[in-house]
Amino acid sequence: MAFRKSTLIFLVMLALCGVCFGAVYRVGDSNGWTSRGLVDYNEWASTKDFHVNDTLIFAYNNQFHNVMQVTTQDFESCNPNSPIAVYSSGSDTITLDRPGNFYFLCGAPGHCRAGQRVEIMATLPTPDDSSPSASPTEAISASSALSNGLALHFSKLGLGVTMFVLSTLLGFVF
Ligand SMILES: *[C@@H]1O[C@H](CO)[C@@H](O)[C@H](O)[C@H]1NC(C)=O
Repeated sequence: MAFRKSTLIFLVMLALCGVCFGAVYRVGDSNGWTSRGLVDYNEWASTKDFHVNDTLIFAYNNQFHNVMQVTTQDFESCNPNSPIAVYSSGSDTITLDRPGNFYFLCGAPGHCRAGQRVEIMATLPTPDDSSPSASPTEAISASSALSNGLALHFSKLGLGVTMFVLSTLLGFVF
């Protein structure tokens, strides 16, 4: 019972975090992180409005791919030999923890050149952010509703987790 309760509390907190800490973006949407030319990642990124504390999820088969955060120079030249950080779980969650540019590429031979790289620019949320936001299904920004500039984002993940928690709660009740 204690286990169930703590699990429940954890899930509720997780759901709240998805709402409070920033938007969550699945890189490449349903295609995920791939080298098969299915996604133009810079085009994908250009349709988004990334803010500090937003989260990126890189989803891929880790037998074939990874995620490396690299410098601008290494991004431009597709150099995987001196990464800032390496992720290889196959479902990596990376928080944009500062304003500025983040550069990611797949370190597998040839993949970066095939287009498996993405540049993300994170900005500080501003109270009167008038730049176009992502499509409503991706991230519904309610920042303008809050005068103190605290951005409140709902994301697919946040909503998904919330639904999961609700269904779990219902499962306990019935
Ligand atoms: C990002 O999150 C951290 C920790 O929750 C918080 O201290 C910081 O103020 C946040 N930054 C922005 C720009 O929202």
